Amino acid sequence: MRDQVYRDAHNQIVDFAFNAEVAAVFPDMIRRSVPGYETMVPVTGLIAARHLGDDGVAFDLGCSLGATTLAILQQNSTPNIRVVGIDNAEAMIAGAQQAISDPRATFVRQDLRDTDVSGARVVVLNLVLQFVDPAHRLGLLQQIHEQMAPGGLLIVSEKVRHDDAWLHELYDSSHLAWKQANGYSELEVSQKRTALENVMRIDTEAEHVERFRTAGFQRTEQWYRCMNWASFLVYR
Ligand SMILES: C[S@@+](CC[C@H](N)C(=O)[O-])C[C@H]1O[C@@H](n2cnc3c(N)ncnc32)[C@H](O)[C@@H]1O
Repeated sequence: MRDQVYRDAHNQIVDFAFNAEVAAVFPDMIRRSVPGYETMVPVTGLIAARHLGDDGVAFDLGCSLGATTLAILQQNSTPNIRVVGIDNAEAMIAGAQQAISDPRATFVRQDLRDTDVSGARVVVLNLVLQFVDPAHRLGLLQQIHEQMAPGGLLIVSEKVRHDDAWLHELYDSSHLAWKQANGYSELEVSQKRTALENVMRIDTEAEHVERFRTAGFQRTEQWYRCMNWASFLVYR
């Protein structure tokens, strides 16, 4: 279904929420809003699937409709792996459960901060940390580090702020143009931007890397970048 959530002028823009209206159009919304999403998800699935081996457990935190969960399952055909998708939005978990019937997948409605990832060989945070209160980000990563299996791999994709202000602006204005090329009007782009202002707070790459280190992770490798989007492999 086509995303028209911000098509008409709203008298008052309320903070963006992952509600039923958004869940219904989410695949179209994210594909037309996040440059590189269509590369980020399958390659995350591929890397995660290889790291899982033939009996590993993966957690897809903030799984939405399960796109990344599905990408992992599709790249690993062994019967004993498990992928647990976690999201606190009811409509997202309901949609994921309806769309993905693979018995190796489980979907749970839960806050990711309350999720025990003990023994996980892979944890994925795909475009999720940016929606977590900045004050809770380090604590969440420390908890994941503590609970993951030794040798575990955390994969984190985020919108990032470029350290260089000029480049950040260039990528940002290019992103707006890209959204318009994808069929969003200027009004849709600006209303969505206002709605996201208080709920999506982004960090620089350097801030991410330093936070992974402080949380206890050994090494970070940035495997992907497309304008202001980046993805990191973070080794426990
Ligand atoms: C941009 S979407 C993630 C996209 C998804 N990972 C994918 O690959 O298609 C962000 C998701 O994170 C979820 N989320 C945000 N904060 C959360 C929290 N504290 N606990 C659980 N889920 C959360 C939202 O409900 C939303 O579905």
